[in-house]
Amino acid sequence: MNHLLNGFLKVTEEAAIQTLPWVGRGDKIAADQAATTAMRNQLNQIEMDSVIVIGEGEIDEAPMLYIDEKVGKGTGPKLDIAVDPIDGTTPTVAGKDNGIAVIAAAPRGTLLHAPDMYMEKMIVGKEAKGVIDLEAPLLHNLKAVAEAKNKRLDQLCVVIQDRPRHDEAIQIMRENGVNVEIFQDGDVLKSLLPSINPEEYDMLYNVGGAPEGVLAAVAVKCLGGEMQARLAFRNEKEYERCLAMGLSNPKTVLRHKDLVASEQGLFIATAITDTLFLKGVKKESSQIRTQSLVIDHTTQESKVIESIRELV
Ligand code: FBP
Repeated sequence: MNHLLNGFLKVTEEAAIQTLPWVGRGDKIAADQAATTAMRNQLNQIEMDSVIVIGEGEIDEAPMLYIDEKVGKGTGPKLDIAVDPIDGTTPTVAGKDNGIAVIAAAPRGTLLHAPDMYMEKMIVGKEAKGVIDLEAPLLHNLKAVAEAKNKRLDQLCVVIQDRPRHDEAIQIMRENGVNVEIFQDGDVLKSLLPSINPEEYDMLYNVGGAPEGVLAAVAVKCLGGEMQARLAFRNEKEYERCLAMGLSNPKTVLRHKDLVASEQGLFIATAITDTLFLKGVKKESSQIRTQSLVIDHTTQESKVIESIRELV
């Protein structure tokens, strides 16, 4: 899959570049349309026989990059593809930091077909792999991670999104002395902090988008960390939706292998606006510059790739 890296890199780079005119313009639909169109055009130039498993919705909603859409030239490796043309649409169209275009790929049939709803996510780096259990209370998990990393609870740092649904979890953590770092938008890159910066960050605990969860799961697996998750449906309709997508027991805890059933994977995120690890797209007089975070299973590392294209 690694030989496809350049093709996939163009997918997220082009999505980020085409979104640039919409940064700060307040139009989420137009921004998303620009990113999605660019992604689809680039995906169809890659020598592969792939299918979208995490995309922009169902075929009957008429989006591009719909779930089950075939992408690629139709020959070559058979892959599952997960995309989020813009993670952080709200900050992007507000002209703020933390907008990325992101893609993940894994062998066909190995990525969870996650419905578009919330997902409870617990993510740790490789030092704490094997000690978390989402069936157990949050505090139990925090103690287990602290023990595995030889830290005290007041030396732990957990990343969580600024949403009222997290009030109780934040209270539990603060009452036990755990440091809580709260972010506004974009939980995909934040999910990588315990793996990329394990000295400072110990866990992401967040109820965020399920599609974003699958994207993060690929990257975290490549980096040797662990993720567990549970779908957080809010009503009967969402529950039915899980069943329709083939999840026989939607309430069950999803282990990392249920999210990504392969050791092979590729993850690329290109910054639209400045974000964690990356600088946003920069248009200079005759050039356009992008920065992307690339993670693949062969190196178990993350690297930043800067691309410069001449403007014609
Ligand atoms: P979008 O860009 O798709 O809106 O997602 C941004 C995001 O912050 C995700 O990273 C996160 O998983 C999700 O929203 C959380 O949802 P909500 O904003 O509804 O709380």
